[in-house]
Amino acid sequence: MHLYLFILVLFSVGPAAVALDNGLALTPTMGWLHWERFMCNTDCDRDPDNCISERLYMQMADVMVKEGWKEAGYEYVCIDDCWPSPRRNIFGRLQADPKRFPGGIKKLAEYVHSRGLKLGIYADVGSLTCAGYPGSLGYYDTDAQTFAEWGVDLLKFDGCYMNLTMLGEGYMNMSKALNKTGRSILYSCEWPLYEWPLKKPNYTAIRETCNHWRNSQDVSDSWSSIKSILAWTAAYQDTIVPSAGPGGWNDPDMLVIGNFGLSHDQQESQMALWAIMAAPLLMSNDLRDICPRSKKLLQNRHVIAINQDPLGKQGFLTAKVDSFDVWERPLSEQRLAIAVLNKQEIGGPRGFLAIAAPGWRVCEPMCNVTQILPQYKDLGVQTAASKMVVWVNPSGTALLTIAPLSGHFKQLHQLKWQNTPLQHQNDVLL
Ligand SMILES: *[C@@H]1O[C@H](CO)[C@@H](O)[C@H](O)[C@H]1NC(C)=O
Ligand SMILES: *[C@@H]1O[C@H](CO)[C@@H](O)[C@H](O)[C@H]1NC(C)=O
Ligand SMILES: *[C@@H]1O[C@H](CO)[C@@H](O)[C@H](O)[C@H]1NC(C)=O
Ligand SMILES: *[C@@H]1O[C@H](CO)[C@@H](O)[C@H](O)[C@H]1NC(C)=O
Ligand SMILES: *[C@@H]1O[C@H](CO)[C@@H](O)[C@H](O)[C@H]1NC(C)=O
Repeated sequence: MHLYLFILVLFSVGPAAVALDNGLALTPTMGWLHWERFMCNTDCDRDPDNCISERLYMQMADVMVKEGWKEAGYEYVCIDDCWPSPRRNIFGRLQADPKRFPGGIKKLAEYVHSRGLKLGIYADVGSLTCAGYPGSLGYYDTDAQTFAEWGVDLLKFDGCYMNLTMLGEGYMNMSKALNKTGRSILYSCEWPLYEWPLKKPNYTAIRETCNHWRNSQDVSDSWSSIKSILAWTAAYQDTIVPSAGPGGWNDPDMLVIGNFGLSHDQQESQMALWAIMAAPLLMSNDLRDICPRSKKLLQNRHVIAINQDPLGKQGFLTAKVDSFDVWERPLSEQRLAIAVLNKQEIGGPRGFLAIAAPGWRVCEPMCNVTQILPQYKDLGVQTAASKMVVWVNPSGTALLTIAPLSGHFKQLHQLKWQNTPLQHQNDVLL
């Protein structure tokens, strides 16, 4: 006998709060960001191929065009910390490290633009960046102007070395400074991540200010890191999910697919769940040297289509069943994406009975099911009573899309799942 624990709380949600009005990030941002893979490697004498230098971004831009990344939708080539010179210039302007960026950022932006891509840069709301380079506190207008003049397209604004009581004000001031430049610059914030220890962040204000925002810890190249990000997201989903929508997204941090720490099943889990979470898809890996399977996964157009779905609703954890976590995301055209993560990290593949997913109710009376991961497969027409089983490897994820086949289906995108707290609202099915 199995105990199926789930709840499906139905209530209509109003539209997400007003998004930052800069016309950007209408679907989650896609691109590449150096931090997780290349960190603060500034030693270009010993490690010229991997140090933070203009060469690195030029090479990534070249590969992104040549190897199908751009075509798959990855657009932003993003610099993280450790690009600047340790001092501002005599006019108080940030400048790139002259040895590692001899051409300067403006030239680099031109190079990236000439490939049809966009350039992202990094700065910090406080007095120093996290790695100790000059921060933007007191220089928001100057730095925004500098980035705009250089032709930068995205700013990741970190939150180190900032008085927490002024954090929100700092992020809002920079948002205004970016707007004042007149250049469309996508604004990626870490406001809630730094504010949580002080108080519950105001996600309405955050959505008005930023195009995406980090909530929880930095990702690292390990399955335990991915699991803890998912656990945090599930624990706080009632707070953060309603704030996501076109123009503004929760950011669970970079994709580490194609590096060293995740098995292929775990890489599929990250890809599937980042699609369900409507997360920015910012890869941090070495695109010059990536295994074909990881590349194929990162370029999987069916998964990317779920991530980029125009309805723009973030998915939820909807059930915990027999050491499976079920996450579901409403999609356009009344469709639904279901991700089934096998949390049992022992043994072999285990079967999940699809009707145990709360969203399976769209199959009343009939639905058309497509498996997206691990392999693309047409699973055909199913009914609400179907005994369909999907097999999932340990720490892997099966990703499905379901399309209802009758006019009598529920209006799924008017529903919201809530998970407060699971064990208080059990439904025993069998
Ligand atoms: C600045 O903000 C205004 C009003 O919110 C908006 O209409 C405009 O497009 C913004 N400009 C830029 C460059 O983001
Ligand atoms: C932070 O700012 C508040 C309000 O301006 C001030 O009272 C406090 O002393 C500051 N804290 C630090 C550590 O600077
Ligand atoms: C934000 O801008 C306001 C208005 O100009 C100013 O009073 C305040 O000091 C600024 N705060 C920060 C952290 O820059
Ligand atoms: C949150 O921010 C919004 C928009 O800026 C504001 O209207 C609202 O009063 C704030 N809520 C709280 C609890 O501070
Ligand atoms: C079911 O979906 C597949 C795509 O996975 C499509 O090719 C097929 O035509 C659909 N079948 C029906 C009955 O809608």
